[in-house]
Amino acid sequence: MTSFPLPLRLLILALSFEIQAVLAVTTITNVTVDDQDPAILYSPEDWNTTEAYNSLDYGGYHHLSGQSSAFAIFNFTGVAIYFLSPLWPYAVGARLVLDGQIPPVFVDLQDHSQPVNSTGGAETVSSAVVWGFENLTLGNHSLQVEFAQGQSQYVVVDAFM
Ligand SMILES: *[C@@H]1O[C@H](CO)[C@@H](O)[C@H](O)[C@H]1NC(C)=O
Ligand SMILES: *[C@@H]1O[C@H](CO)[C@@H](O)[C@H](O)[C@H]1NC(C)=O
Ligand SMILES: *[C@@H]1O[C@H](CO)[C@@H](O)[C@H](O)[C@H]1NC(C)=O
Ligand SMILES: *[C@@H]1O[C@H](CO)[C@@H](O)[C@H](O)[C@H]1NC(C)=O
Ligand SMILES: *[C@@H]1O[C@H](CO)[C@@H](O)[C@H](O)[C@H]1NC(C)=O
Ligand SMILES: *[C@@H]1O[C@H](CO)[C@@H](O)[C@H](O)[C@H]1NC(C)=O
Repeated sequence: MTSFPLPLRLLILALSFEIQAVLAVTTITNVTVDDQDPAILYSPEDWNTTEAYNSLDYGGYHHLSGQSSAFAIFNFTGVAIYFLSPLWPYAVGARLVLDGQIPPVFVDLQDHSQPVNSTGGAETVSSAVVWGFENLTLGNHSLQVEFAQGQSQYVVVDAFM
């Protein structure tokens, strides 16, 4: 490159930055973080983690709470966030607060295709993306999951992506 005149060298340099920027854009990937990942901070003593293995959960397990004080915080660096969860045949849901934005978003996690099971029990629909937010500025973001007081009986964390 030293044999090229300076303007050409600058052009090549500029183009190489351009190519790197394009490569950076095309290397965006989805990373799934299971509910047991230490990157997730749970409010103490609110969450039940002793539930049985269920193949409908991402990774086989989820966190569950019926406590109004329950919350979980997932801080991440990225450009999008998705909330994954199974569905249950009774009132399960979550309030989601992204980067402190009020009002929170309510995500209904009830399987309305089934009759309501008043005794509770296992999920009836496999874990999938139930909510997402895209086109975030590349940087640090925070998603808080809260018990949906007055809207559901239980709050669940299964996975983030
Ligand atoms: C990540 O997953 C979401 C939701 O399933 C999908 O819409 C998106 O295209 C995926 N992004 C990449 C880079 O694979
Ligand atoms: C936690 O899960 C176990 C096992 O399913 C169950 O016996 C128990 O009642 C649950 N506790 C709460 C508070 O939901
Ligand atoms: C997550 O990010 C928020 C907002 O930046 C911050 O207030 C909080 O301390 C962070 N929590 C953890 C567990 O890192
Ligand atoms: C309700 O859930 C309980 C506990 O999982 C289960 O034994 C029962 O079969 C369910 N009832 C219906 C109508 O699906
Ligand atoms: C994110 O940006 C892409 C490209 O600009 C656009 O196609 C897409 O609709 C946007 N998604 C959302 C949820 O705004
Ligand atoms: C984002 O978070 C990481 C890890 O917590 C930290 O090292 C970094 O400085 C933060 N970046 C910005 C732009 O705040």
